[in-house]
Amino acid sequence: MSERTQVAIIGAGPAGLLLGQLLHRQGIDAVILEARSRDYVEARIRAGLLEQGTIETLREAGVGERMEAEGMVHGGIYLCFDHTLHHIPIRELTHGRTMMIYGQTEVVKDLIATRLELGLPLRFECEDVTVEGLDHDEPVVRYRHDGAGHELRCDIVAGCDGFHGVCRATVPEDAIGVWGREYPYGWLGILADVAPSTDELIYAYSDRGFALHTMRSPTRSRLYVQVDPGDDIENWSDDRIWSELHQRLASEGWELQEGPILDKAITPMRSFVAAPMRYRSLFLAGDAVHIVPPTGAKGLNLAVADVTVLADALAAHFTSGSDTGLDEYSDRCLTRVWRAEHFSWFMTTMLHLDPHDDAFGRELQRSQLRYVTTSTAAATSLAENYVGLPLEQTAPAAVTP
Ligand code: FAD
Ligand code: PHB
Repeated sequence: MSERTQVAIIGAGPAGLLLGQLLHRQGIDAVILEARSRDYVEARIRAGLLEQGTIETLREAGVGERMEAEGMVHGGIYLCFDHTLHHIPIRELTHGRTMMIYGQTEVVKDLIATRLELGLPLRFECEDVTVEGLDHDEPVVRYRHDGAGHELRCDIVAGCDGFHGVCRATVPEDAIGVWGREYPYGWLGILADVAPSTDELIYAYSDRGFALHTMRSPTRSRLYVQVDPGDDIENWSDDRIWSELHQRLASEGWELQEGPILDKAITPMRSFVAAPMRYRSLFLAGDAVHIVPPTGAKGLNLAVADVTVLADALAAHFTSGSDTGLDEYSDRCLTRVWRAEHFSWFMTTMLHLDPHDDAFGRELQRSQLRYVTTSTAAATSLAENYVGLPLEQTAPAAVTP
């Protein structure tokens, strides 16, 4: 079976689904192909923190209604060390910018529901997806669906298929460079049926390792503890997880409330960038082309920024025949990507215990934590990176005397 579209989008994560929606609003046809089932994609618990730019993009894309009603606005974070909570007033330090807690699961559900209501093509459970003909005018995506072979001919392929997808692997090795780092720790994340014990997220540095208290709703808490990346979730009973969380998050005058654990999983942590983000008519976006450790809460936000730039470039290509945007796509995204890579690495290495580190390294971490919680200049730097740089501004505004 053969069909044709303008943009073949591989992957129905946040990047692929949002790109489909942005293109639809510009009158451009796209077909989204996803390897997993709808249930699987909607249940996959991952990111939770949206930058203001992401919130604005989702709102402008017409998928922000439930987010506006249910999302929890945050104007700061706590850094916890030496058993003390230190507040970083991000809103005050960034001229009023804020973040929002609204789960990636909910963003994905909203995007899928909108696409299906509009009757736009979105195919789940596509098998054996391959991308061919990138050197010709008309690339072809082949896949199997419901037991039958399909081919999708298109002008452009958007590779939004995550770190383990097929699109990046399609690019010849000598046409793409890779940079990366694996960390000697992972995150064990839980979702618990209990009201958050805190008004703002708590990032904790402790002698037992990192912990994070975040949330999903007024009645659901999300918490993470640093573990060995090779650890098995079977080694972690609910009691052991709560015990670690109590010890790592302990601070004067504050108490952690426990509740039933609804979900638990271990994720390894890595930094990774592949560049350029384009090969001929294939454009890579989101986790397919860069990964950040989750400590900076940047992954989903970077994916949204990529496809916002890509959608505008594709609109110019299809409506006015201008390819300037497509030619600049990779460079425009990479400036922001590398800033987020640096910030995520900075937050990660400041807050985690590296098993190979020595006492000198620990003292450097503690000094950095004291600095960002006592110097307005250092706190402002952390705040403007955490809240997210405006899409069009890849570096902070010049210092004015
Ligand atoms: P993905 O979400 O990985 O989507 C890719 C899609 O492609 C998937 O649905 C996959 O099934 C599909 N696919 C793969 N191969 C194929 C194929 N061959 N054919 C068709 N489809 C395919 N980011 C933040 O911004 N803030 C946070 O607070 C945050 N917290 C996080 C916490 C954790 C524990 C983790 C693991 C991540 C976190 N992130 C966070 C990162 C964020 O979840 C990712 O960056 C985001 O999912 C990237 O979206 P994406 O659409 O690019 O990729
Ligand atoms: C989350 O809510 O899951 C979350 C928030 C902030 C992070 C990472 C994850 O840095």
